[in-house]
Amino acid sequence: MLVRGILCGVALFQTFVEASPLPHDAVPRYFQKTPFTRREISVSRIEQELGPLLSPGSGIFLPSDPEWSDLNERWNTLAPPDIEVVVQPAKESDVPIIVRYCNDNSLEFLAVNRGHGFTTSLGVFKGVQIDLKQLTAITIEKTGKSAIFQGGVRAREVMATLWDHGYVTTTGSAECVGLVGPALGGGHGRYEGLYGLVLDNIIHLNVVLADGSTISVNETSHKDLLWAMKGAGHNFGIVTSFKLKIYPKKIETWHYHNYFWTQDKLETVLGELNKLQDNGNSPTLLGSTYGQIYMNKTLSKTEAILWWTFAYAGPASEAEKILQPFNKIHALSEEMGDVPYPEIVNPQNTGMASCGAAPYAISTVLLQTYNITTERKIYELFNKNVALYPELGETARLFYEGYAVKGMQAVDPASTAYPHRDENHLVFISAAVPKGSNLYEPAEKWAKDSWDLWNAGQPTRKSATYVNYATGNKYESQESIYGYEPWRLDRLRGLKKKYDPKNRFRFFVPIVPH
Ligand SMILES: Cc1cc2nc3c(=O)[nH]c(=O)nc-3n(C[C@H](O)[C@H](O)[C@H](O)COP(=O)(O)OP(=O)(O)OC[C@H]3O[C@@H](n4cnc5c(N)ncnc54)[C@H](O)[C@@H]3O)c2cc1C
Ligand SMILES: *[C@@H]1O[C@H](CO)[C@@H](O)[C@H](O)[C@H]1NC(C)=O
Ligand SMILES: *[C@@H]1O[C@H](CO)[C@@H](O)[C@H](O)[C@H]1NC(C)=O
Ligand SMILES: *[C@@H]1O[C@H](CO)[C@@H](O)[C@H](O)[C@H]1NC(C)=O
Repeated sequence: MLVRGILCGVALFQTFVEASPLPHDAVPRYFQKTPFTRREISVSRIEQELGPLLSPGSGIFLPSDPEWSDLNERWNTLAPPDIEVVVQPAKESDVPIIVRYCNDNSLEFLAVNRGHGFTTSLGVFKGVQIDLKQLTAITIEKTGKSAIFQGGVRAREVMATLWDHGYVTTTGSAECVGLVGPALGGGHGRYEGLYGLVLDNIIHLNVVLADGSTISVNETSHKDLLWAMKGAGHNFGIVTSFKLKIYPKKIETWHYHNYFWTQDKLETVLGELNKLQDNGNSPTLLGSTYGQIYMNKTLSKTEAILWWTFAYAGPASEAEKILQPFNKIHALSEEMGDVPYPEIVNPQNTGMASCGAAPYAISTVLLQTYNITTERKIYELFNKNVALYPELGETARLFYEGYAVKGMQAVDPASTAYPHRDENHLVFISAAVPKGSNLYEPAEKWAKDSWDLWNAGQPTRKSATYVNYATGNKYESQESIYGYEPWRLDRLRGLKKKYDPKNRFRFFVPIVPH
């Protein structure tokens, strides 16, 4: 007899696992006539049946458990998935067991790591969350040329662990995001100029497919899937671990320089940023150049200000030569410093403090250059909306991201499913919609109006969306996300038929929608 009270929580779970008998009335899966017979299965039943199949240290959590709200935290709470049970595997080998159990019981499943996936397409999910947060091992290989990362690692630990051992690799730039999530769709970060996207560094993936089988994906094993995992991977499998290239760190510190400017500098700043980006030829060591336009009431009560931060892999003297044009633009205030790589996240506002959850309305585009006329219009729209909706103005921000892109652009675009190597900037607007307010529509309209302006600002180009920044907004076409060349989506759809014919992976920016 299983007592509910002792089943919750990772720590107590071991006792349960050792007890391990199947509930008396459970029919072993190999005796079941058809796997799809149990649509009404209860969550406590799932816990009773699945628990004994998993390795010690695994956890199964129900909404009544005290850990529930922490476990289900996600960055964007606007349209969250409907999670009925959380299963936390202790070992990679638990993942196929969970997937098969879900298949046998007509349950949907969704892999989650750090919960920063923000597309509203996740909102149609209802079922079992496979939470990979216990799978965090990082193993540097003896060659010093690669490391194996489990599917639940987070950028923060990846950056710190490698740095401590004298290495770096490509990660997202915010320390709160996972590594695999970003990697499956791209993975833009500070080492992109040197080493490309995170996905450009993948050597091997251990993948659990929709039918619960476990396969190796690399140049000699399921090579067709390797292509798809590099850019559309969320649609194909669960990565329990993968092998990435790593590199000697070469330097001791990164230099940062941050500036606050008033709005009248917008044209000058963006003009200099375009010169610096130089159609993809920006200095490879100038890893990240981010801007935010937002209301800073200390600086102005009525007008949004500009904040820009630059980070350079190397000494201040080299960096400041590149930044001379920006030093000439009169700033309200500025600060600079030199820090070890894992600490560069803080002055650049991508540290843990920047990762707060909220119901965000977002729109996002990829750009080659900043259209300055357009940016002025978007700026004016921003101030106008802040005046109309002060509550939205509290959190609304325009984000401008410029990475060094040489490493990313050196890779043949056809060689991976990532379609947007000719884009130089990731740009978006976000505003938190206060709970219970009637500001959802104005926030969405503001996001859409900004999106329209961004696209009108590149009249000869087609709108492009980074899959990991896709919002789920109806106006984002599949082509804008997965590529306009017809062979790209054809190939992806063909691979879906082969590797996920029942379309079990269809919640994160689906290739084959419902
Ligand atoms: C604050 C913030 C900062 C960001 N910074 C960057 C950045 O610098 N660079 C960048 O490229 N992107 C960035 N992103 C976007 C980021 O790439 C995506 O949000 C990504 O999905 C986050 O991964 P996660 O593990 O944190 O989120 P999750 O929500 O846990 O995962 C997102 C999706 O990935 C899939 N998934 C996760 N883990 C696995 C796995 N092991 N196997 C298979 N599928 C899996 C699931 O479908 C899941 O729905 C940022 C997002 C936010 C919110
Ligand atoms: C690819 O996977 C196969 C099967 O697991 C393995 O034997 C081979 O060593 C792998 N190749 C690489 C480059 O990792
Ligand atoms: C506003 O600007 C001041 C002065 O430059 C800065 O110190 C502060 O952190 C900013 N506040 C916010 C909320 O960004
Ligand atoms: C910039 O945007 C405007 C519309 O805002 C457009 O008319 C113009 O052609 C764009 N410039 C370039 C170089 O694309």
